[in-house]
Amino acid sequence: GAAVEVDISALNPGEKLTVEWRGKPVWIMKRSPEQLESLKKIEGQLADPASDRTAYPTPEYAKNPHRSIKPEIMVAVGICTHLGCSPGDKFATGPQPSLPDDWNGGFLCACHGSTFDLAGRVFKNKPAPDNLEVPPHMYLSDTKLIIG
Ligand code: FES
Repeated sequence: GAAVEVDISALNPGEKLTVEWRGKPVWIMKRSPEQLESLKKIEGQLADPASDRTAYPTPEYAKNPHRSIKPEIMVAVGICTHLGCSPGDKFATGPQPSLPDDWNGGFLCACHGSTFDLAGRVFKNKPAPDNLEVPPHMYLSDTKLIIG
């Protein structure tokens, strides 16, 4: 299980694809300008907005508000940092049970209700202690990504 090469040329804004790396699902999501903008508004609601925690150290190149190399492209391991379930997508906006009132899209772990924003950052007061892991990765070209 070495590195995995991914072609992201067909990914449209708001879409996410999943590849397998070392037996883990890795999510690659293209965030729309609105979704990127929404990341800034919720920092006060997050447990670790700057990704300073070290259980799953965030690579230096992803220690920024969008947690990524290219602002629009999220790359994260789709495994909840609580007990290892795979969070589902919940892109709907507006009030929903167990989600913040101003929910702008993100990921909900149905096992115990942890919620993550569209940068994989965990919301406060949730069972998950950490943001989703950002795997080591780099771009070979504008549309070719290598994970691992
Ligand atoms: Fe995700 Fe517990 S495993 S909230």
